[in-house]
Amino acid sequence: MTVLAFDVYATLINTYGMVDLLQRYIGKDRAMPFATLWRDKQLEYSFRRSMMDDYEPFYTCTSDALNYCIEAFGVQLTRDQQFSLIKRYQNLPAYRDVIPCLSSLAQRSDIAIYALTNGPLEDIERLFADDAIDSYFRDIVSCDEIRTYKPDPAVYRHFLKRSGAEAGDCWLISGNSFDCIGAAHAGFNTVWIKRYDAQLYDPWGKRPNATLSSLTELESLF
Ligand code: 2OP
Repeated sequence: MTVLAFDVYATLINTYGMVDLLQRYIGKDRAMPFATLWRDKQLEYSFRRSMMDDYEPFYTCTSDALNYCIEAFGVQLTRDQQFSLIKRYQNLPAYRDVIPCLSSLAQRSDIAIYALTNGPLEDIERLFADDAIDSYFRDIVSCDEIRTYKPDPAVYRHFLKRSGAEAGDCWLISGNSFDCIGAAHAGFNTVWIKRYDAQLYDPWGKRPNATLSSLTELESLF
């Protein structure tokens, strides 16, 4: 059995899905840089919380990162606007290639589909239900279950325990190069989804087994 472990944010779910709101609140020019820094800081806070052994759920990293960006950009956002941004983050849209990819993989009896994510189970269940992709997953494995974040090797080991799979049979599918490098370090095969030309794979660590520009070509790998 081939086990596919899909990362969620920036792989299935578009972390730029709140840019229209940001454009309205802080202007067209600042919206994308703000969204990029928000994501970068969110991840940095998750890495630091893992290292400090000071776990808080992923939405705390998200809202702390939003507060950082508000200060860094020197913008005034009302409480309602901040609430709307956080609310949107909880309902980010899936990329357009997700349903076609998952629905064709789900037909295959030799493939098991999982999610492996930093997000707490209840957040991811709601997100998947809103995007109508919940039925494709055999299970959702969350870092929240062991209170640490990717790329802590404990996360990938936890996935193996939960799925009962061998690392060599597992493929992490991720748009985040740090996640691919972390999973490869734990013995997984990896596919990096390079959705934007400007995205770079970190110049160290194990290279992905495959790099794809979208999920459309994924099934042909298996
Ligand atoms: C996720 O775990 C890394 O944000 C990414 O969903």
